[in-house]
Amino acid sequence: MKKNSSRLVTAMCMLALSSAHVGARAAAAAAQSAQPVAPPQLVQNDGRYALMVDGQPFTMLGVQAHNSSNYPGALEKVWSAVKDVHANTLEIPVAWEQVEPVEGKFDFSYVDTLVAQARQNKVRLVLLWFGSWKNTRPQYAPEWVRTDQQRFPHMLGKDGKVTYCLSPYGEETLRADTRAFVAFMTHLKKIDEAHRTVIMVQVQNEVGTFNSARDYSPKAEAAFRQPVPQAVLAKKKVPPSVEGGAASGTWSEVYGPYADEYFLAYSMARYIGSMAKAGRAVYNLPMYVNAAVRDSVAPATPWKDNFNAGGPTWDVIDIYQAAAPDIDISAADLYGKESLQVTGNLAKYQRRDNALFVPEMANAPYFARYIYEILGRGAIGIAPFGVDYADYTNYPLGAKTSDKTMAEPFGKIYAAFRPMERMWAKWSLEGRTHGMAESDERTPQTITMGNWKVGATFREWFMGNVAHSANKQDFPPGTEFPTGGVAFAHTGDNEFIVIGQQVRLHFAGAGSNADKPAQYLRVEEGRFDASGKWVMERNWNGDQVDSGLNLPARPTVLKVRMGSY
Ligand code: DGJ
Repeated sequence: MKKNSSRLVTAMCMLALSSAHVGARAAAAAAQSAQPVAPPQLVQNDGRYALMVDGQPFTMLGVQAHNSSNYPGALEKVWSAVKDVHANTLEIPVAWEQVEPVEGKFDFSYVDTLVAQARQNKVRLVLLWFGSWKNTRPQYAPEWVRTDQQRFPHMLGKDGKVTYCLSPYGEETLRADTRAFVAFMTHLKKIDEAHRTVIMVQVQNEVGTFNSARDYSPKAEAAFRQPVPQAVLAKKKVPPSVEGGAASGTWSEVYGPYADEYFLAYSMARYIGSMAKAGRAVYNLPMYVNAAVRDSVAPATPWKDNFNAGGPTWDVIDIYQAAAPDIDISAADLYGKESLQVTGNLAKYQRRDNALFVPEMANAPYFARYIYEILGRGAIGIAPFGVDYADYTNYPLGAKTSDKTMAEPFGKIYAAFRPMERMWAKWSLEGRTHGMAESDERTPQTITMGNWKVGATFREWFMGNVAHSANKQDFPPGTEFPTGGVAFAHTGDNEFIVIGQQVRLHFAGAGSNADKPAQYLRVEEGRFDASGKWVMERNWNGDQVDSGLNLPARPTVLKVRMGSY
């Protein structure tokens, strides 16, 4: 159980819900009787998590707007994209420079407009506090901070030169950023406590620094020579490659060649944790931090100018938990294109003590398939970045276009998940969900769920297989790059809800069913209606099951019942 367990509710018994519509009804009833709406919170069940919204599990099918769309005049192009993608949540920045342009004078008019428009659009908000660090830079701090290095000192490099980053040891910086953040949270409480439109807050954005392993300023140096705090020692084990690491002592004595980067992670986490604590004391919303990730496949060797040090990369999640117990989640921003890296980071960030959440992912079309893997793994939510019709695209990180063609690959999947957004989160909290995305190599994959195992293959026509085809390079249209993915909810011993696209599935017995022949008793294609009831559209049989279950390019939902004879 993680350090910040007091912030989490471990309570399956809270889940008295039997279907998705209970949450909506409860919220409507609460609104009518002017009862307070349940606060958003993160709950845990045996290492699986759910974000509770209006008192019920919620799957955040989100998008993130571009960085400079945080102004009333820019919002129209955001809402149209949100609508086309069928998102239920918008992540968008609130910048320190914008709410406190003059020291001590706060202006939250943008927040008021944003929250009011979110309600009109029936969308929840996750607000991103861009303060002292945004992608490591201080660019969203107000001018009065950025132009006063005496009061707001920068990190020093190893060579003693001033760097571009604010130092996490700037006491005035922490005081000023915290004061603004607390003013923001106080304002949110005032305008939103009765509605709960805002469901989470991100504190800073992709923090840390490039080109340096840590801050070498005099204050940082003094802290670096102090003993490693007990809370960190208790959480962060010494990597096995460190010879003679002491059980306690200074950072160098304990962590050897990892000392610099671990110390920077601690320094950033301490600063962020202190802000989160102050913010939650006035208005208690779930809070998280996001990382510019490091290699998730190679072993975490000491920093060699090869990643953004100081952020919540997978190898320092423990340090963030120890130093920032008021932060609920360390989360990964996924932009690396290799499927091995994506899957590697998902595996590293999904821990019994860290809920899986993907607050940013590239909006390039071939990233859409990861939604199935991410939600199948049981993530509380996901948000492709730059889903916003502003005249800007972040290609080659993301999509080339900023119009409906960008929205479509994500929108069609969200549309299929939306009717299940509550049920999926409940199944996920119960540990019933699984998922996969087509790998770059297009290789077959297998998932075992109870007494059934499901094989998945890609780039197949619907009947037979490529071996039967005269032209072995004759692949189905739309499979030029990987687009396949599938997620399962194992809803009963022999029953599954399957949602996916561009994949062929073969169910077979496993465990005590391993030696028995399998048969599809029922393969209903359909959807859930607004009240959470399954609506069958047709039953697949004959050709539609003889070569396996072929999920087309259109995201398709099946209710499958398996049997043996
Ligand atoms: C990750 C950052 O967190 C985002 O704000 C944005 O800058 C993207 N990178 C790049 O578009």
